[in-house]
Amino acid sequence: MNSIDSLLHETRRFPPAPAFVENAVAGPELAEAAAADRLAFWGDQSRQLLSWSTPFTQTLDWSEAPFAKWFADGRLNVAYNCLDRHVEAGNGDRIALHWEGEPGDSRSITYEELTADVKRAANTFAELGVGHGDRVAIYLPMIPEAVVAMLAVARLGAIHSVVFGGFSADSLRARIDDAEAKLVITADGGWRKGKVFPLKNAVDAALADGASTVEHVLVVRRGENTVEWTEGRDLWWHDTVEEASDEHDAEAFEAENPLFILYTSGTTGKPKGILHTSGGYLTQAAYTHKNVFDLHPETDVYWCTADVGWITGHSYVVYGPLANGATQVIYEGTPDTPHPARWWEVVEKYKVSIFYSAPTAIRSFMKIGRQEPQKYDLSSIRLLGSVGEPINPEAWIWYRDIIGAGAAPIVDTWWQTETGGIMISALPGLTTLKPGSAQVPLPGISVDVLSEDGTPVGNGEGGLLVVTEPWPSMLRGIWGDPERFVETYWSKFPGGDGEPPRYFAGDGARKDEDGDIWLLGRVDDVMNVSGHRLSTAEIESALVSHPWVAESAVVGANDETTGQAVVAFVIVKASQADVATAAEAADVLRAHVAQQIGAIARPRQVFIVTELPKTRSGKIMRRLLRDVAEGREIGDTTTLADTNVMQIITDKLK
Ligand code: WT7
Repeated sequence: MNSIDSLLHETRRFPPAPAFVENAVAGPELAEAAAADRLAFWGDQSRQLLSWSTPFTQTLDWSEAPFAKWFADGRLNVAYNCLDRHVEAGNGDRIALHWEGEPGDSRSITYEELTADVKRAANTFAELGVGHGDRVAIYLPMIPEAVVAMLAVARLGAIHSVVFGGFSADSLRARIDDAEAKLVITADGGWRKGKVFPLKNAVDAALADGASTVEHVLVVRRGENTVEWTEGRDLWWHDTVEEASDEHDAEAFEAENPLFILYTSGTTGKPKGILHTSGGYLTQAAYTHKNVFDLHPETDVYWCTADVGWITGHSYVVYGPLANGATQVIYEGTPDTPHPARWWEVVEKYKVSIFYSAPTAIRSFMKIGRQEPQKYDLSSIRLLGSVGEPINPEAWIWYRDIIGAGAAPIVDTWWQTETGGIMISALPGLTTLKPGSAQVPLPGISVDVLSEDGTPVGNGEGGLLVVTEPWPSMLRGIWGDPERFVETYWSKFPGGDGEPPRYFAGDGARKDEDGDIWLLGRVDDVMNVSGHRLSTAEIESALVSHPWVAESAVVGANDETTGQAVVAFVIVKASQADVATAAEAADVLRAHVAQQIGAIARPRQVFIVTELPKTRSGKIMRRLLRDVAEGREIGDTTTLADTNVMQIITDKLK
């Protein structure tokens, strides 16, 4: 609660500089147009930002709410919009990607070259049997081929499911099975922290039983590490894609053609396959990328540090920037390899002007100290962005002062995997900035903060963040599970009496005196670790899958750098009590979670306990465990079935 209090007492204000306002992409007319006629506004944006091969006549069909259709009778090709049309417009020589490998190798790829690469890849995938509606899993490091693969799948009207390279073989297999992918695109390995991490091995492990839907594995050579080979199934990218024809006509698909599935953690153990479609998604990705980041595509060099394995990488590395014809940097490795100022070296090298990153990264850099960024010339930077979790005002000020020369506006962008694009953010030429607040819904977006009973809270009050009107890049469902979609997002405020349902985001929020929005974190059992969503239930099931574990409870505890950290409380089976000391068991279990889910889910701490605090109905009281994990006085225990339990736990941990 302390951090919330300090946020709400934050009074510093930063109006946009006149010179910035003068050249700003987004002016007051955007909000005026959206307020005058919201749907007409979105229709206009879509026509201006995208090229439709069949124009749409209806903007929104909400008759089957909460299942939305945007621009439904229009047709377009997403890859054509990100590539060919820029070449046709005479911008083929513009750099699309400045790619920087972790070891220092680099490639700059023009729009013309990227278009040809995607055409080659599309021809190869089609030859491997990938067509309209088929699912393709992509498990790659941050290399240009990741972007090429995504766009080639999109070009064919097929559906990609990008699986973050840090996820385990088991997680990969679960996602392959859920989507019934027929092709997997991977690499031998990629560079991370000065070493090659193997990816092909993990794919082999995921497919070892030979019982999956996967027909082929296409492998990019990047790590030069040795790999096993399954004849007939495995193919090298350089033997296929690089040999393929670079002629490929993009077929237009309907606006609601699925574009991708991206898995994210929910409140239960099984990740949800969030489904996004084409026309509405691309409209909002392009609109937000252009206006929030004040993109001047002829002169700006944009860098979003996210991996394509996350939604930020989908919307703000691939689709938004490329639809807008931007020049961008992508970087393969970690921020501190081979030296602590690696990112800043990259900013100087490419003269990055727009930089979009996450609070957790900024806090790590703060810890290392300003001397590192100050070794490089960062004067090219004119705009900074933040996403993933609330940015604490001290980190905001540091970011602006040290990275933004005390002058760059910071856009704090609130959105989610489900929203597909940015929903709440300052507009840099218009909004007077408040450090720590995401501030205002973008023109065309309608959000509110409601109390539990569904009534809007007043200014100065807190409640639950909802989106009150459908938006173009909204999720269209959960892959294969329409009931879960309705239940998870639309049942809290279901509407009725002719009222449409409202989308419940899972976040708490507060409106300040001006009505600006301050995000207060998740209100469900979802943790936010380094801006990535993790489910307590998913980690608990990973823990109980270990033969030593009888029961477990996982909480997100405050962490100075990562925002929250995973802390697990585990009861070891009586029969296993003597197999290891508590410290050894904790190490084994931490490694087990990393192996089951991926390194990002590895608990910071595992406490071996003999009891867990439960209510009379058997619900674990995570609030009390959070008190322990954060080293606080234990809160109210009166609803515990056995009120001595917390004493037993704290005695044990002394
Ligand atoms: C959750 C969504 C959207 C890309 C990154 C995460 C939190 C995200 C902010 C922000 C406060 C934020 C919310 C949200 N979140 N951005 N600017 N301020 N909180 O995507 O994994 O789908 O997680 O991240 O809690 O619900 P995600």
